[in-house]
Amino acid sequence: MAEGGLFHSCHGYNARMNATQTRPLPIGVFDSGVGGLTVLKALREALPAEDLMYLGDTARLPYGTKSPASISRYACQATRHLQQQGIKLLVVACNTASAVALDALREQMAPLPVIGVVEPGATAAVGTRPGASHLVLATEATVRLGAYRHAIAARDPGATVRELACEMLVSLAEEGWTTGDIATAVIRRYLGLLPEEARAPDSIILGCTHFPLLRDAIAEVVAPGTMIVDSASTTAQAASTMLDDLGLRSDKPAGGLRLFATDGASRFARVGGRFLGESLDASDITLVDL
Ligand code: DGL
Repeated sequence: MAEGGLFHSCHGYNARMNATQTRPLPIGVFDSGVGGLTVLKALREALPAEDLMYLGDTARLPYGTKSPASISRYACQATRHLQQQGIKLLVVACNTASAVALDALREQMAPLPVIGVVEPGATAAVGTRPGASHLVLATEATVRLGAYRHAIAARDPGATVRELACEMLVSLAEEGWTTGDIATAVIRRYLGLLPEEARAPDSIILGCTHFPLLRDAIAEVVAPGTMIVDSASTTAQAASTMLDDLGLRSDKPAGGLRLFATDGASRFARVGGRFLGESLDASDITLVDL
């Protein structure tokens, strides 16, 4: 087992946060692949003056089927890369990494602030109504740890939560097959694994940053009126509040964006452009070795 119990230990994170020095630094965002670009998009909309730096660990995607020790080690290495570039806030735009490694990253990277996506997602979900029934679609690792179940129970003890691992939806999103017969058939197949009474929840939580791309296909399959919740905008709000609380909001007129990936710049550009909502070129992505 890795040092520090289940979690790989991140040594060397002793950033001395000083508001004047750190205010101009970018916000670091990382995901296992391109899915976190849905969160990046929300961050850009909410914080247009901030520089953003995104790393997709495309060489090691998916995280969701890996062991907690491996996920934690990968998250730590990705985070270290962003830290070395110089960031003022880390957004873990991956539900799996948030579920597995967030507490360890927060502890080991203090005082650098770290925000995950599970807590904002749970906050958004309980906002539908108290005591609602929620169905969480996520990766195997996120479901195994009951990350959303715990986060929702802490906010609304009267809520009921069921979690369903839907690994193939990650592949569909990465492939760009997000609408049409194949996407809806796969979603139906997953929902068919649930007992009849669990197939009509009040809300469906997109507990994986890849799944907002499948929102339309999911809406087509579930009962009309089902709330579909994702964590992107609540995560961006949490980041905005955090920057204000720490006095770290940028005073530049406009922010820039740097993109890093660990493999496949062309594929990242092709698929990631859809997630980000703008066209990307392979030359926009810098490949890095973690
Ligand atoms: N981005 C991951 C998440 O939000 C899903 C992809 C993966 O398994 O790496 O859980």
